[in-house]
Amino acid sequence: MLIFAHRGASGYAPENTVKAMQLALDMGASAVELDIHLVEDELYVFHDRWLDPKSNGRGLISDHSKAAIAKVSLVGEPIPTLWQLMAAMQPRPLVNIELKGANTAEPLIALYPRLLSELGYTRQQLLISSFNHRYLLEVKQALPEALVAPLVEGVPLDFAACGDKLGAFSIHLDINFITEEMVSDAHSRGLKVYVYTVDREQDILWMQQMGVDGIFTNFPDRAQQILQ
Ligand code: G3P
Ligand code: CA
Repeated sequence: MLIFAHRGASGYAPENTVKAMQLALDMGASAVELDIHLVEDELYVFHDRWLDPKSNGRGLISDHSKAAIAKVSLVGEPIPTLWQLMAAMQPRPLVNIELKGANTAEPLIALYPRLLSELGYTRQQLLISSFNHRYLLEVKQALPEALVAPLVEGVPLDFAACGDKLGAFSIHLDINFITEEMVSDAHSRGLKVYVYTVDREQDILWMQQMGVDGIFTNFPDRAQQILQ
């Protein structure tokens, strides 16, 4: 199973920071997951819509200026731009970029070619996901070769059709609702199945037994040890 360090090694370092990502890579992770929001014309890596309570900022992230975001930190770690974080990660991992905030598809589409040409990522190393499947349609229409993945919370009736319609690479399912039937349905449509968020040992082993292709975990080192 592929192990994605969820928001980096976020069980040990402030989530979605350069420190959390580099720690995950130092632990041997080959895949990381992160969330992005748009501030002015720049994509930033941060999970919540609200800066508080996870950082020392207050209010909606999208209400801020870039200059204001530069002054905000999570336990002393700055909120990186997507570009800064992607440039910092060595060696280059597989990166699942989740379009979390509003209006993030268009700027990511604009940035995507530079992630390849200037930072040396390959198309296979950039997996773009979102709960907003229309954002993924936008991405796929603009960048037909990009890997996209619908995030699913709960059990929609046509969950795997999301993959068919989008030409998705994978479908990302919530551990709280997953069943063997969902996994085999997705696999029969050629979709990889990645499951979030899987931290407990019994759940990691359950996912392995279920035959899923990957998990998102806040403790990538522990998951590696359990699966060895
Ligand atoms: O991408 C998997 C997972 O990160 C989705 O949920 O809330 O942790 O972004 P969330
Ligand atoms: Ca996420």
